[in-house]
Amino acid sequence: MSPWGCYVHVPWCRAQCPYCGFYIVPGERALAWEPFVDRVLAEHRARAPAFAGDAHTVYLGGGTPSRLPPEALARLLTNLPTVPGAERSCEANPEDLTDAWLQGAIEAGIGRISLGVQTFVPHVARRLGRAHTSAQATDAARRLARAPLRSWSIDLIFAVPGQTLDDLRSDLDTILSLGAPHVSIYGLTVEPGTPFASARRRGRLPDVDPDLWRDMYDQIVSVLGGAGLQRYEVSSFARAGHRCDHNALYWADRPYMGLGPGAHGYAPDGTRWHNTPDLRGYLAADTAPGRIEHPSGEVAAMDLLVAGLRGIDGVTLSRLEARTGHRPDPRIVEILIEGGLLIPDPARLALTSRGFPLADAVVDRLVRALRPS
Ligand SMILES: C[S@@+](CC[C@H](N)C(=O)[O-])C[C@H]1O[C@@H](n2cnc3c(N)ncnc32)[C@H](O)[C@@H]1O
Ligand code: SF4
Repeated sequence: MSPWGCYVHVPWCRAQCPYCGFYIVPGERALAWEPFVDRVLAEHRARAPAFAGDAHTVYLGGGTPSRLPPEALARLLTNLPTVPGAERSCEANPEDLTDAWLQGAIEAGIGRISLGVQTFVPHVARRLGRAHTSAQATDAARRLARAPLRSWSIDLIFAVPGQTLDDLRSDLDTILSLGAPHVSIYGLTVEPGTPFASARRRGRLPDVDPDLWRDMYDQIVSVLGGAGLQRYEVSSFARAGHRCDHNALYWADRPYMGLGPGAHGYAPDGTRWHNTPDLRGYLAADTAPGRIEHPSGEVAAMDLLVAGLRGIDGVTLSRLEARTGHRPDPRIVEILIEGGLLIPDPARLALTSRGFPLADAVVDRLVRALRPS
């Protein structure tokens, strides 16, 4: 039986951060969490027949799931069945992470928390429009370090216009001093339809120089790697025993049941769904409104390469062929191996240290080289 994960999208946020392209509902004071939890559990019941057995992981993401009270987390976790010992994660924003909320979340069954800091440096935080102060972020991380959790993580963003290499170094030093056993650090992407995208169009958001981007990425790998946080995906670093099982399922092409407005999912038979990003519509409907796709072999191969190549284990060619009936032209694979971007393994496509910072370009080249096998 293939392991699978369950993702719940909790859309509420205090305010819209100007770079964020996820589906969120900003500023709603009265959180209608009870009908929301009921709908998520109903959606789970409706989707369960397509999945065998119980979930191996549960991930509450957003949006800002830490806006939910612990009772809501408890109702969700009690009613989303998992295999024994399953990882159960929740994203949290620093301003929500009080002692009382954290204790309630742990009692509800959360074993792993991912703290969305993005940066501890005040001028970078202002640029990102973050709602918390650096002091709130460090206090929240200290609480996590003391708490009886299985693991915890800090999320950062780098390559923010105006951020220097020293600013980034200061973020990395702060993370190490706080003892985070796991770090996710993404380069800023300017998502279509966000305030950052219109600021860029109007010339108010400069591009980050590609050489600076590269220097920043190299600094991240050397500082975190040197401190014992091993890169196990392009943007994810962990001490031994602290990798995120849920994210690893995505990179290993395992199915996941995405629940909630704006969530998407991937059933064991290869069907994909995209729930409409509309909280009111979601609460009002009997079935989750959205779109269903049965990807062609070529599209499934593209999806598999895009997700799988980011992980340290890469993509096994026999699995790629068996699932999709496609493989990349061996001449292109050879060129990427000779260029030092892929490891020289005839059974597997996996990035080298040189290939990791160029992951998007390597994936793009492989996708364009896909052929029916
Ligand atoms: C959608 S957020 C949800 C977590 C939480 N609400 C927060 O604000 O941290 C999940 C993670 O996605 C990443 N993220 C969101 N938008 C991004 C962007 N435009 N560029 C890079 N990373 C982004 C951030 O690292 C963030 O921690
Ligand atoms: S980054 Fe987090 S808090 Fe900001 S809008 Fe996106 S989900 Fe909400």
